[in-house]
Amino acid sequence: MNPFSYQNGTLMAEAVDLQHLAKTYGTPLYVYSRAALEERWQAFDQAFGAQPHLVCYAVKTNSNIAVLNVLAKIGAGFDIVSQGELERVLRAGGDPKKVVFSGVAKQPAEIKRALEVGIRCFNIESHAELERIQEVAQQLNKIAPISIRVNPDVDAKTHPYISTGLKDNKFGVDINTAPELYQLAAQHSHIQPIGIDCHIGSQLTEIKPFVDALERVLALKAQLTQQGIELHHLDLGGGLGIQYTDETPPAINEYIAALLAKLNDTQIEVIIEPGRAIAGNAGVLLTQVEFLKPTAHKNFAIIDAAMNDLIRPALYQSFMDIIAVTPRTDGSDAQWDLVGPVCETGDFLGKGRNLNLKAGDLLAVKSAGAYGFTMASNYNTRPRAAEIMVDGAEAHLIRRRETYDDLIGLESVITE
Ligand code: LLP
Repeated sequence: MNPFSYQNGTLMAEAVDLQHLAKTYGTPLYVYSRAALEERWQAFDQAFGAQPHLVCYAVKTNSNIAVLNVLAKIGAGFDIVSQGELERVLRAGGDPKKVVFSGVAKQPAEIKRALEVGIRCFNIESHAELERIQEVAQQLNKIAPISIRVNPDVDAKTHPYISTGLKDNKFGVDINTAPELYQLAAQHSHIQPIGIDCHIGSQLTEIKPFVDALERVLALKAQLTQQGIELHHLDLGGGLGIQYTDETPPAINEYIAALLAKLNDTQIEVIIEPGRAIAGNAGVLLTQVEFLKPTAHKNFAIIDAAMNDLIRPALYQSFMDIIAVTPRTDGSDAQWDLVGPVCETGDFLGKGRNLNLKAGDLLAVKSAGAYGFTMASNYNTRPRAAEIMVDGAEAHLIRRRETYDDLIGLESVITE
């Protein structure tokens, strides 16, 4: 489904008028569709059919507790990378037994909390981390269930900043040395190896790298079985891409079908950690045109959202589609660079866009449900945007706009 469609010349989120939302809550404003979030998670879940599986939504993608709560209610598990994300999952009513904990450097306090609440699995990324988890588990007299995140050295063919499965990335352990680390792990008193983990990158638009990675993971699993290490699950990470403009990522069911075909009826549990493919196209960022500033060289439209609200274009040169909420029909389009109020030349959300603009117009930045708000900052002491969840004809404020007190209240001047 596309939850954002035009009705009577104006863009709606489900049955809610975006002009009305902008008037009520101000801009910049993130707006998410509950139905779209649910539908995308369910598409993953259903594609597995009878294969034992768990779809762990990657919390970093969009971690508002209302988003997590909606997914928890339909049975989602969660992939977390910090205690902060764990606390969000718990407050959102998520089941800790469906939580996997990724990330290259889990702190002892984070490990302790995760053991206390009883998460499903730690995805270990190095020998040093294995030792740290053993130590904390021993102190608590608990057994830590673990997977080792292996680096299958597969080229995900995506932006270098979000490619994670190559030998020169910081993530995981070399798949060739993984058997030794599993042997070692199995000898630890408070560690129980239960799975293999890998995640090769994000915004993948082809199936082949996923299948290649799975092939290598299955070979490792076979080798471990020979060594007497029986595993309960394979965690294949996230990474399925979405359409921002003209990309043609595989459909969710095609992607899962390709994984299942490679598994060839092996009844092992499969965990996946999708983020973007669930939340990306379930959200938009609304922003208002402040000024038009045509120059001899270029046309700038200065909008009230900036790189601090949505950093993807500045950080990865990502293309985010930007459309008018109520398009004009008088046919005087021009090319505009859509730039924010932050004092950086890199502060743009789109360049050279064909739009028919006037000051005061409302624009929607599409595909902003993933890695939008979660990567927002207070740079230039700008309060972060409010967030809304639309559910049919209802709109819920799920995070109020920050106030200046929110921003400055944690600081203090020295008294002398
Ligand atoms: N699992 C692990 C271990 C991850 O590191 C990630 C994302 C995911 C799952 C979810 O991946 P997804 O299904 O969303 O591709 N900020 C960047 C994306 C960074 C992705 C980091 N890891 C962006 O805006 O494109």
